[in-house]
Amino acid sequence: MRIALLGLGSVGRGIARTILAKNLDITVTGLADSRSGIIDAGGIDLLAALARKEAGGPCGSPGVSPADVVAKADYDVLVEVTPTNVKTAEPALGHMRTALRRGKHVVTSNKGPIALAYPELRALAEANGVFLKYEATVCGAIPLIHGITEGLAGNTISRLSGVFNGTCNYILTRMAAEGLTYEQALAEARELGYAEADPTYDVEGIDAGVKLVILANTVLDMHATLDDVERTGITLLTPDALELAEDQDCTIRLIGEIIPGAGVLRVSPRIIPKAHPLVVEGTLNAVTVEADLAGDLTFIGKGAGSIETASAVIGDLLYIRERHVQGS
Ligand code: HSE
Repeated sequence: MRIALLGLGSVGRGIARTILAKNLDITVTGLADSRSGIIDAGGIDLLAALARKEAGGPCGSPGVSPADVVAKADYDVLVEVTPTNVKTAEPALGHMRTALRRGKHVVTSNKGPIALAYPELRALAEANGVFLKYEATVCGAIPLIHGITEGLAGNTISRLSGVFNGTCNYILTRMAAEGLTYEQALAEARELGYAEADPTYDVEGIDAGVKLVILANTVLDMHATLDDVERTGITLLTPDALELAEDQDCTIRLIGEIIPGAGVLRVSPRIIPKAHPLVVEGTLNAVTVEADLAGDLTFIGKGAGSIETASAVIGDLLYIRERHVQGS
C-alpha cells in the first residue's frame, strides 16, 4: 500500500515511527510538512526525513509543496494529519477534495474538514469509489467511530457523554493531584504534544465541541455546526474550585454531551463523584454511549498522544487495505 503523508507534527511522526517499527508494508511515496515536501515513487526514507525534522529542519525540499504532493505523487491513500482549522478547514479540505477526485482514499486525524464538510467529502468519496476514514478525529486511540457504526449497528443511541479532550483532562488531573496552576499544567500538556497547535481550541472547549459535531453528523444522523454546541471551557477554573470539589469526594471534568432526540450538544466543566466511570486520569478519554439494544457502554482510552493517535490512523489504513487496495 502506498500513502502520501501530509503533516509531520506529533501525529505524523507517530505514524512514520509506527510504519518503521512494525514493518507494515506501507510505502510512503509522498511526504510534506508546512514548509517542504518529497515525492518519490520508489519510497521515501522515513528515518532520514524524521531525523531532518528532529534536527529542526524541513522534512524535504522547499520547492515541493503539500499541494504538489497531493496532486502529483503516486499513492493509494492520502493520510492528512496537519493541524485543525475549525473556521475554514483549509488547506486540508482542498487537499482532500483533490485526492478524492483523483480516486485516492483519504484517512485523516484533521477535525476541521470532517466537522465542516463531511456530507460533501462523503459524496465525493462515494462518487469516486474510495473510502473516507476519520477514526483519529475523535478520542485518539479509542475506536469509537468503528465501535458505534459497526459494533452498535442497529442500535438507536439516546445519549452520548464523556471526556473528549485529553489536554483538559491532563490539566485538571495535574491541578488536582499536584496542585499545579492552570498555566503550569497547560505548559506541560503542550510540551508533551497533547495540545492542539492552537491550545485555545483545547481549553475553551472548541476541540471537544468539534468532536461532538463530528459524532453528531457522521454517526448520529444530526445536522450540527460548532455554533450549535453550548460551550464553556476550563480557562476560569482555579485550584480552589478543584479543592472544593475534592472536599466532597468529587472532582471536575470537562464533559461533552449529545442528546440526539432533544438536539442537545454541550461542553462544560462538571463536578462529578470520583467513583463515576467518566472520571479518568491524565490524557485518557471516556465516553458512555447509551444504546437501546446494547445498553450503556463506556469506552476508555488515550485521547491524545503521538503513537496513540497513530494507532487510529493505522487502523483506518489497514481497514482500507483489507477491503480495497489491490495487490498490497
Ligand atoms: N488536543 C487534542 C486533545 C488531541 O487533547 O484531546 C486529540 O484530538
